[in-house]
Amino acid sequence: MRIGVIAGSSRPGALNPLVVEWVVSQLEERGIDHEVVHFGAYDLPILDEAIPGGAGRYENEHTKAWAAALRPFDGYIVVTPEYNHSVPGPLKNAIDFVGPEFAHKPVAFVSYGADKGVRAVEAWRLVFANFRAATVRGVAAFSVFTDFKDGAFAPEEVSAKTFGPMIEDLVAWSEGFALVRERAAEKVAS
Ligand SMILES: Cc1cc2nc3c(=O)[nH]c(=O)nc-3n(C[C@H](O)[C@H](O)[C@H](O)COP(=O)(O)O)c2cc1C
Repeated sequence: MRIGVIAGSSRPGALNPLVVEWVVSQLEERGIDHEVVHFGAYDLPILDEAIPGGAGRYENEHTKAWAAALRPFDGYIVVTPEYNHSVPGPLKNAIDFVGPEFAHKPVAFVSYGADKGVRAVEAWRLVFANFRAATVRGVAAFSVFTDFKDGAFAPEEVSAKTFGPMIEDLVAWSEGFALVRERAAEKVAS
């Protein structure tokens, strides 16, 4: 069982790496196998695929590489900021390239923002539902005002403790959904 941690911002000076680092430390503490995936590493332009990502028929090398980076996981944690009361546009553009990589897999969210990024999370749920992914209810959500101090991520206990129940669901669902994926693959093969 392997979890993909999707870094949600690639802009200069982003807070995202601080939160991703904390998420990684939480996964390491629990002995959960994981890897961080950075959309910023794939030089993705504004969406340039002729066929919508949901079809999985990618033409461009950058799309194939990005999809290959996302594919091997059993579940995902999206570490997302909130931009203009919704999902961050750059990550949404990256996610619009792909789709089937998330089918029959669970997705959890770690968010941050003035209001802890929860509006972005609720918007992401609709996006991932379109990929036949299942989003766990719990969210570890952090305030840019109280969970970051002097340029560091210093989460308050009240925010950080939500990570535990969230990851328990993600791990259980990641294991359970493996059966759903097996059945879906059998159906395609028959
Ligand atoms: C384009 C843009 C829009 C933003 N809109 C919101 C917002 O609607 N709500 C909010 O809580 N924070 C908003 N912020 C503030 C972000 O929460 C804060 O800048 C955070 O550091 C962004 O994550 P990042 O640094 O990892 O990119 C916005 C930031 C940017 C750059």
